[in-house]
Order: sequence, then structure tokens, then C-alpha cells
Amino acid sequence: MAKKTIRDIQVKGKKVLIRVDFNVPLKNGEISDENRIVQALPTIEYILEQGGRAIVFSHLGRVKDESDKADNSLEVVAKRLSVLLNKKVNFVPVTRGKVLEDAVNQLQDGEILMFENTRFEDLKGKKESKNDPELGKYWASLGDVFVNDAFGTAHRDAASNVGIASNIKDCVAGFLLEKEINFIGGTLENPKRPFVAILGGAKVSDKIEVIKNLLKVADKVLIGGGMAYTFFKAQGYEIGNSLLEADKIDLAKELLELGKGKIVLGDDVITAKTFDPESEKNVRNITSIPADEMGMDIGPRTIALFETYIATAKTVIWNGPLGVFEFPRFAEGTRSIAQSITEIKDQATTIIGGGDSAAAVIQFGLAEGFTHISTGGGASLEYLEGKLLPGIECVDNK
Ligand code: 3PG
Repeated sequence: MAKKTIRDIQVKGKKVLIRVDFNVPLKNGEISDENRIVQALPTIEYILEQGGRAIVFSHLGRVKDESDKADNSLEVVAKRLSVLLNKKVNFVPVTRGKVLEDAVNQLQDGEILMFENTRFEDLKGKKESKNDPELGKYWASLGDVFVNDAFGTAHRDAASNVGIASNIKDCVAGFLLEKEINFIGGTLENPKRPFVAILGGAKVSDKIEVIKNLLKVADKVLIGGGMAYTFFKAQGYEIGNSLLEADKIDLAKELLELGKGKIVLGDDVITAKTFDPESEKNVRNITSIPADEMGMDIGPRTIALFETYIATAKTVIWNGPLGVFEFPRFAEGTRSIAQSITEIKDQATTIIGGGDSAAAVIQFGLAEGFTHISTGGGASLEYLEGKLLPGIECVDNK
């Protein structure tokens, strides 16, 4: 069902509530990855240019007790937003009350404020995270219209997305939410073929539903990363000290059966004796992993095999790294596959489904070579599983 977007409403002179996902990683109080802020700029800029009065808010981290407040204040994010917009962003250090209400009422057309971390409300009984009805109603009362642009939070049923949407007349998608719906949702519904899905990451258990859902729509599902070893074990190979989810071997067998002709695992791996960045690396055929070694990356023949499928693809969706990319010695598989996907950019839609694989591509400096890098972690995964996301469902249909 197509969703209304900010193009469908008038915002001039209106108080526009804008839910973004600025839950960005912070290291020593500094933002270490600002992708989520940058990707929300088009929506905010559009609303300001149209003469809307922007009230921006987000959660940041998890706030369990008072001591979590200092490390999870959005003030640092508001400062960065102000630099990126080249405009004053009035940071309001509370989540409700007279100070906030006055700041909202003083906003002029084309001005912006940002209020404090919505999860500070969790200290009074998880009001934000459990979608307390009174809280959603209160925040809704601060604005005239609601723009949800927080794709990263779309799998959460919170007061600041679903709660506000249920208490306001207009709830529309921002450009980022629209883009995520079009790229991920649109691809799952109607992919250009061949459609190649690439799945990695540590655990099969995290990806079961994603694999099942993608097997329904993709032409090939290439599997690497830690979770590949449970599949190798299911095929009867000895995997040494590699990651294994012993209780998922039968499930892996079922998935292999279900995905016959679609699932591709490759036949060689890079191993090491210890999980260590300096550990010596060995190329091993999948039939001969020594008992005292563990898989750390996909091997060169597997890279070449995966690349043959990528070369002719018209759609690629990738979720989960293919090896221990945090250790440069074991990053070759993830880097090579990222590189080969960038080489088909002109002929294909190429999407990274958020999380660690997005971090890897950004770390390699290859982000520009992808059509879309999702801002969702958990949200992308649940979307790829085929689930309905509350933060998308609550947006008005066209
Ligand atoms: C995310 O980073 O996945 C979203 O911002 C949601 O955060 P959460 O897992 O703390 O709800």
C-alpha cells in the first residue's frame, strides 16, 4: 500500500513534528558515524524551505537509570545537525513541560528546534518504548502534522512514532522513510532479475526468517560469514573450531533443501588457529579444515564464484559481513564482494541492509558505489523477513 509523504501535505506555517532516528554511535562523546543524520537532511531541509516550523526528536541509546542520561543526551547530535544544516538548531534539554511548549510556540516559519532523547521518558516506566498512550497524545498535541522519517526505529512500537500517529490527523513519511520503503520493500515486491541476495553475519539463528523470505523472491542466496559453518556442518563437513550453532544443524539442512539450486555456499575458506588479528591465515578447502583451526573469511575460489553471480545481477541485497572484517587480515572476502558490487552500480540496484555490512562498506570507503545503504539495523532485518513494521504501518495510506 502506497504511503503518503511530505509532498502530499502543506507545511507552511505549521508546527511539524519530525521523528528521525538519530540513534548514532558515540565514541568518547563524539559521533563516529553520522550516516543517519546526513540521510535525514533532505526531509528537514524541505520542511524548512517550505516554511514549516520543525520540531525534531529521536531516541538515543537505551536509558535505564538516571546515570545513563549524561551519555545519551542528544545535545551533541543537535550541534552536529546545526553544522550540517548551516542553521541554528535550538536544543531544548527536556522531553515535556513548559520549557518545551514555550520553545515550540516561539518557533517561526523556517525555524527548527530539537528536543531531548525521547527515551528519557523510559525512566518513568518505559513510557516511550512501551508506547504509553498519554505520552503519544501529549507529543502529538505539540504539533499540527507528523512526519515520520525514522526508518531505523520502524520495527519499534513507541510513543514517538505509533503513539503520535494515533493522535494526530496527518501522519506522512519523510523522504528517507519513503526511500527505504521503495528500495527494500519495492525490491522484495518486484525485483529486477537476476536478484542476488548475499547473507552473512555470525549466527544462522539471527537470519532464519530472512533466509526463508529471500528464498521466496531471490534467484540466488549467497551465504558466507560465521553462519556458513553451521551449513557446512549440515552438509557433513568437519569445520574445526569454526562458529557452530549445533542446535541449528537440522534447520540448516531444511533450509538447504528448501533452497536447492538457490543457496550458494562456496567451497573454500580462510582459517586461523586463534581469533586474533595477527593470527596466521590459511586457505583451506571446505573438505579439509584442520580440527584446531577456525573459519575467519570466505576463500578466494568462493569470492570468484560469488562474483560471477554478482556480475550479471540486476538487483543485489546484502546483509551481514562475510568474514571478520574488523581484522584487516580477514577482511578480504567482505571487501572484494563490496568492491564487485560497486562495479555493477550502473546496471543494477544495489542495497546494503544496514548494520555491520553498512559499517564495513563505510569503513572500506565504498559507500558511494551503492544505490542505497539502509539506515536500519534491526528494522532492515525485520523488513527483509517480510514483517509489517509498526513505524511504516502507522503512516497514512495514499
Ligand atoms: C537501531 O539502531 O537499530 C534503532 O535505532 C533502534 O534502536 P533500539 O534497538 O535501541 O530500539
